[in-house]
Amino acid sequence: MKERETPPTPTLLAIFFCLFATVLCNSTPREVFRLYRAVPHSTTGLRALHDLQKNDHLFNVDFWKEPRAIEDTADVMVPESVWGLVEEYLQNSNCTYRVSVPDVEKLILYNEGSKRTRPGFGKRLNDDPILDSEPDDDWTNVGKLKKAKYPFGDYAPYADMMKYMRTIEFYYPGFTKIVRIGTSHEGKPIEGLKIGFPIENTSKRAVWIDGNIHAREWASSHTALYIINQLVSGYGKDDNTTFYVNNLNFYIVPCLNPDGYEYTRSSPQPLVR
Ligand SMILES: *[C@@H]1O[C@H](CO)[C@@H](O)[C@H](O)[C@H]1NC(C)=O
Ligand SMILES: *[C@@H]1O[C@H](CO)[C@@H](O)[C@H](O)[C@H]1NC(C)=O
Ligand SMILES: *[C@@H]1O[C@H](CO)[C@@H](O)[C@H](O)[C@H]1NC(C)=O
Repeated sequence: MKERETPPTPTLLAIFFCLFATVLCNSTPREVFRLYRAVPHSTTGLRALHDLQKNDHLFNVDFWKEPRAIEDTADVMVPESVWGLVEEYLQNSNCTYRVSVPDVEKLILYNEGSKRTRPGFGKRLNDDPILDSEPDDDWTNVGKLKKAKYPFGDYAPYADMMKYMRTIEFYYPGFTKIVRIGTSHEGKPIEGLKIGFPIENTSKRAVWIDGNIHAREWASSHTALYIINQLVSGYGKDDNTTFYVNNLNFYIVPCLNPDGYEYTRSSPQPLVR
């Protein structure tokens, strides 16, 4: 059964035609993409944001996060050619907004270029028991690492994710184990971590978590890695975590699409999918 589609609101259609005119007249060599954070304050606003999302292809906007309720935030990436129109649309539909990233491409380049050279970056999580060590760029060294380390403040290479999981397996063999579910098109191993005590027990209920099946949804990999971190570092310390790890088998594959992750990570063009 097909869900009944609501037609775009007149305002949205109107801005689409303005947009058409704008795009025909301006051709900028490098278009700047801004990330807007918008908050709907009424059902009108929420509906307007959902309409914009349904028609994202018409405007070339990209929702990084959709709003789930009134007063919830939406993050939407907007190309320069439609800044004015989108701002007007948000104002007219009772949403407040601010620009949270003025130039997405610059931010990507900044994160790529100065990884590990910025002092204090990613230090926030360093009071964590399994993150407290220096990163090691040579990942043939896994067995010699003191502790697993993943730069959670950053979008690190796929190899770092694997190194992180393998290091955890090395230090916590009693309740963690690498599982390999296949190989990507370009030949990268697709690996995850099984977490459960005792690790040999296969008859417990399973919890499956995966991330990053869509190339550019980087945050999902890091959410999955963070769950790994919480389960491993909380085991034996936090009663609930210990209970879950004893009674369930977690299978966590942070990045199902390593080719897409690496491809989009290495391209500063925000629209690459
Ligand atoms: C806009 O939101 C406010 C609440 O923040 C509400 O009082 C007002 O009626 C809304 N206006 C429209 C046009 O929906
Ligand atoms: C553990 O779970 C219970 C509910 O089952 C909850 O009330 C409690 O706050 C949790 N404790 C921690 C430390 O998360
Ligand atoms: C595995 O764990 C489940 C749940 O804790 C338990 O009921 C079962 O007996 C265990 N099986 C083995 C082989 O240890």
